[in-house]
Amino acid sequence: MSADPLVAVLAEVVGPAHVLTDPDLTASYESDWTGRWAGRARCVVRPADTAQVTGVVRACATHAAPVVPQGGNTGLVGGSVPRGGEVLLSLARLDRVEPVDTLAGQVTAGAGVTLAALQRHAAQAGLSYGVDLAARDRATVGGMVATNAGGTHVVAYGTTRAQVVGLEAVLADGSVVSRLEGLPKDNVGYDLPGLLVGSEGTLAVVTRARLRLVPQLPHRVAALLAVPGLAAAVALVARLRSRVGGLQAVEYVERAGIELAVDQLGVADAFSSPHAAHLLVEVADHGDPTPLLADALDGADEVAEVAVADDGPGRTRLWRVREAQTEAIALAGVARKYDVTLPLSRLAAFRGDLDGVLAREAPGARAIVFGHLAEGNLHVNVLDADHLDDRLDAVVLGLVASHAGSISAEHGVGRHKAAYVHLGRDAADRAAMAAIKRALDPEGRLNPGVLFPAAR
Ligand code: FAD
Ligand code: MLT
Ligand code: ZN
Repeated sequence: MSADPLVAVLAEVVGPAHVLTDPDLTASYESDWTGRWAGRARCVVRPADTAQVTGVVRACATHAAPVVPQGGNTGLVGGSVPRGGEVLLSLARLDRVEPVDTLAGQVTAGAGVTLAALQRHAAQAGLSYGVDLAARDRATVGGMVATNAGGTHVVAYGTTRAQVVGLEAVLADGSVVSRLEGLPKDNVGYDLPGLLVGSEGTLAVVTRARLRLVPQLPHRVAALLAVPGLAAAVALVARLRSRVGGLQAVEYVERAGIELAVDQLGVADAFSSPHAAHLLVEVADHGDPTPLLADALDGADEVAEVAVADDGPGRTRLWRVREAQTEAIALAGVARKYDVTLPLSRLAAFRGDLDGVLAREAPGARAIVFGHLAEGNLHVNVLDADHLDDRLDAVVLGLVASHAGSISAEHGVGRHKAAYVHLGRDAADRAAMAAIKRALDPEGRLNPGVLFPAAR
């Protein structure tokens, strides 16, 4: 056992088997999913429940030790791994989910419950969970709360914030705040759960969440639309939104991403001829929504080809290129990832400007652009630009801000974009957030360098 006194104390709290210092055992916790962010942890500690999390956090407070909370480590902005020397607090073992409260349409889940496990649990009770994303087998409830994860169903149910009806969390001093009753109306004091959603591990460690569930919609149809580009796709969003109730997903993928999925993962393009972009639309209802979708698309001249499926395997086939984007990009190299939101009215202009910016700043780089189109959320992945310094970040995020967009749509700010928060939040806003951070984490030990630039 290590000579580090904190390690010994942590071993008393969680048991020696759940305090890791051996680099072979800690490695997977210390580098992020993209391979861009990594750092050596002082140790990795794996508590089993809220009481042990409290004990761990208290011990770290006594030892003035910085802490990085971690769930499934699928975060994409460098917020879930140490910079160097922090205690890596894994919530993965808090994987208990309570019986679904079918009367309230809610469930209480531990921070370490994966999205896939939560979805299965809800389905067994005849309900669904409103957030879905491709990392569902590893992303956890705690991580999705901390990043306010969005995913593919935001157009129907909103982001994770809209699913959270209560939280239990451990504050930096080890005290526990618990609001898990799930009362639809409960206006007693500040909305602490709301404050912790999207706080990226910088204000508290989430240990349990009370989540709303949504009705299961048995009839689902997916339509893959071949379109000439982003402007046409945006025009279709307006048409669909005005004519189709039950929109579940509106996902955009460009030619470069389609070809990357084919090249890297052997995923088949659903169409025989190469189209500039695809728009994947999914609709669900208690009855067959296909006729409604067909009517909505009738006369949509911008659609060159359509592939439709209303059975599970067929829909999975239509989704495959879209779901393969992140993995295909990661196989092609370490991308500079920009998860941004633009007003729908500015999307096409931004997309055109982006090509100009990249041609100037990163000649030879490849832009793989896809995203959740109904909410204007593009994932701009720039490959073959890793040799460039962070100047590209400033230029691309500056372009987003110049189009009245947000530099962080759903992945969080993390370490990656901490230096650019001023592009989206003015001085008064940043001062208020810093005051909240000082109030809840006065020693700045929770996820230092995330959301707020690291102290020099
Ligand atoms: P981690 O990566 O472990 O942590 C993420 C952040 O949350 C870190 O800052 C960490 O410190 C903090 N944190 C984690 N657990 C806790 C806790 N219990 N208490 C306090 N802070 C905590 N994201 C989307 O929004 N939409 C998508 O469509 C989407 N698709 C993805 C597809 C792929 C293939 C991959 C790899 C990622 C995708 N993501 C997406 C990003 C990622 O899955 C989400 O950010 C997710 O919310 C991270 O969950 P996690 O449990 O892996 O968190
Ligand atoms: C997605 O929508 O697939 C994710 O947000 C992941 C990514 O942006 O790479
Ligand atoms: Zn996304």
